[in-house]
Amino acid sequence: MLAIEVDDLHKNYKGAWAPALDGFSFSVAQGKISGLLGPNGAGKTTTINILCGLIAPDNGTAKVFGKNCSTESIHVRNKIGVAPQQVALFGNLTAIENLRYIGRLYGLSDSVINKRSMNLLELLGLSAHADKRINAYSGGMKRRANIIASLLHEPELLILDEPTAGVDVQSRALILSFLQQYRQQGKTILYTSHLMDEAQQICDEVTIIDEGKFIINGTPGDLIRETTDCKKLEDVFLHYTGHTVRD
Ligand SMILES: Nc1ncnc2c1ncn2[C@@H]1O[C@H](COP(=O)(O)OP(=O)(O)O)[C@@H](O)[C@H]1O
Ligand SMILES: [Mg+2]
Repeated sequence: MLAIEVDDLHKNYKGAWAPALDGFSFSVAQGKISGLLGPNGAGKTTTINILCGLIAPDNGTAKVFGKNCSTESIHVRNKIGVAPQQVALFGNLTAIENLRYIGRLYGLSDSVINKRSMNLLELLGLSAHADKRINAYSGGMKRRANIIASLLHEPELLILDEPTAGVDVQSRALILSFLQQYRQQGKTILYTSHLMDEAQQICDEVTIIDEGKFIINGTPGDLIRETTDCKKLEDVFLHYTGHTVRD
């Protein structure tokens, strides 16, 4: 069974001059780190919001482990953890207070929440900051705390929307090595980025999306080999998405 199966998604936001998704299809096999790569406005966040049941597509289907993301969203939500593009934590609460709150929403007991929180805070380098308010965190610390919040219920599929955008080099390295560790536990990861060097480094496979349409999919190595005059994933990306600046 595929971890993610997206078929012919269409999404038009009200008042938008172009569709956000225009027949987009792609899939992700279990146990992979898969990169969903595209320029600004390509449709990455819209795809993620459909996968986690936050918005419904106008047409087409999205499935997670065989369950329909629109009609069976309760099943889907237990299987996925999502670290959204905008950090979704209470700034006036400490990290541990946020985690207790979120863990209870998932129906976890306090002892399970505490155990998992301590472990994850340690793995993502925040143990010493568990009792500090999120407002006092740096950008990189907020991102790492945001990822921890998505992991408390130990999801089979972790979805991260630009987890490394605008974070410091050390935070980024820590996040990337954590994702590789998580995959080694047999979990599946979908992550979006517009940073090609990073995607080339950690993704088992990548899908390029542009203007709401599927462009190409493959391992970074295959794509680099099969695309004329390309030495790195960034060359492949520019080859397919062009040099026009996006806003
Ligand atoms: N709530 C919204 N209302 C109107 N247009 C939107 C909304 N959200 C996204 N869009 C538009 O849909 C397109 C795809 O956006 P998005 O999925 O956020 O792309 P990405 O995450 O790849 O940058 C963009 O043109 C964006 O401006
Ligand atoms: Mg986005």
